[in-house]
Amino acid sequence: MSNPPPVLTIDGPSGAGKGTVSRIAATRLGWHYLDSGALYRAVGVAASWADLDLSDPAALVRCTFDTDIRFHEREGGDLRVLVNGVDATDELRLETTGTVASAIAAIPEVRAALKDRQRAFRQSPGLVADGRDMGTVIFPDAPYKVFLTASADERAERRYKQLKDKGVSVTIDGLLREILARDARDAQRTVAPLRPADDAVPIDTTGLDIDEVVARVLAVVKPQG
Ligand code: DC
Repeated sequence: MSNPPPVLTIDGPSGAGKGTVSRIAATRLGWHYLDSGALYRAVGVAASWADLDLSDPAALVRCTFDTDIRFHEREGGDLRVLVNGVDATDELRLETTGTVASAIAAIPEVRAALKDRQRAFRQSPGLVADGRDMGTVIFPDAPYKVFLTASADERAERRYKQLKDKGVSVTIDGLLREILARDARDAQRTVAPLRPADDAVPIDTTGLDIDEVVARVLAVVKPQG
């Protein structure tokens, strides 16, 4: 039997820089990229469009099965996400969507329903998978795993700068509170809680710029690959 394509898993809390670092790492390696958070966010957007009750797990599970989610890369590398055929990329990135996604992601049947969709991204020549449970649950046999962290203060500050650049008015204190609440929810849920895989390399990105983080992440792949 031939070996499955290699996977580099990049897990960690929100705001640790996973998205940017994962995309650059995938481009450098020439591998595919899975933004698993976007799947949970897409289900959250579909649930909001359908006006579903977030405290009704059965409806959310049905919604997970029924939602068509497609990734489409525009020229220049801009990644768009189509939810039931509608470009929902901008709505996906909203803080409110992240909060809904985090609540939906705590439902075991929703996670189970998304498992195979995530594993389908494992294609030649390789995959960079970005999320919370990539190294622990979805690709436990991945040869390369990192766990990115950064202090909550730094994550709030990065998010503040991003939102300010987009003209969104928020306060650092408010963002910090949201980040801590989301961390707690993601780490405390009973199914696939946020935690590093035993064989993941921890990388603290506090005070590092993107190039330094990318170099450290790629160093995990290079010695063996
Ligand atoms: O990475 P993100 O902020 O786009 O993820 C949004 C939410 O989805 C996050 O709060 C938790 C959930 N999520 C998850 O439970 N498992 C993943 N692999 C990715 C995201």
